[in-house]
Amino acid sequence: MESGTIRFDQDADDRDHKDMEKLIREAAADKIPMLISENNGKRLPSNVRSCMMVPLNIRGKTFGVLTAAIKHGDRRFGESDLYYLSFLTRHAAHAIEKLALYENIYNNLFSTLYAFVRAIELRDPYTQQHSSRVTDISLQLGQNMGCSQEELDILNFAGPLHDIGKIGIPDNILLKPGPLTLSEYEKIKEHPDLGADIVGKLGMWDREQEIIRCHHEWYDGSGYPSGLKQDEIPLLSRILSVADAFDAMASDRAYRKRMEIGKVLGTIQSAANTQFDPDVVGAFTALHESGAIDLDAA
Ligand SMILES: [Fe+2]
Repeated sequence: MESGTIRFDQDADDRDHKDMEKLIREAAADKIPMLISENNGKRLPSNVRSCMMVPLNIRGKTFGVLTAAIKHGDRRFGESDLYYLSFLTRHAAHAIEKLALYENIYNNLFSTLYAFVRAIELRDPYTQQHSSRVTDISLQLGQNMGCSQEELDILNFAGPLHDIGKIGIPDNILLKPGPLTLSEYEKIKEHPDLGADIVGKLGMWDREQEIIRCHHEWYDGSGYPSGLKQDEIPLLSRILSVADAFDAMASDRAYRKRMEIGKVLGTIQSAANTQFDPDVVGAFTALHESGAIDLDAA
């Protein structure tokens, strides 16, 4: 019967699959390369004529088994094939180990930097969670403006760290409840360069460094630290700038109460072409109108 035939084939497939899995587990347990040149009917699945398996070992642990199998034709694997596959697997294991170590270092560095930001925010009860809110809004703006995944990843990294340079600003200036003197304001203006230098010292994240350095530049060139204007300012900094200003206006600060929420959007819109990139302001307005940015939740 046809249905019986189909079931028979399925059963055979399942057996072959289990046989192969058993061999792979053996190779993983032994941690040494295995070559089975010929299918003698005892070890290999019925649909495999020749096979080799090389465990992928990293620091003595097996993370996988690179398996090559011949199912058709007269060719059979030999010792030289096993040598080349072992060579390839050693290099693959080395590359994976380096990547894992890099990711580990990357995550540890980011956690350390973010701990600095938390420490800064804890100094000022008014700015707690400011950086993460700014990051969330920046990511929404970035998505709305068609940023690539790479750009969004950069924003996701630079957003939480944009004010890390404030670690170098004394409390009596950073937490001053009243207006700043000219010299105190000059000191505050150092924080984008300080932040970029802190991130830059780690020798990676060049683009993130520039985003942080430029987050207080104004679209008309009257910002700081460099007085860049329009496209001279990285797009991601122009995005961060709007999100940063929005969250600052919509939150209580040591020196003032939060701005009446209805005025926040108007203030941002009126600063298009002066402080802010008009395209980013347009994206912000669109997001607000769609309900994605909830002014009352800030
Ligand atoms: Fe800042």
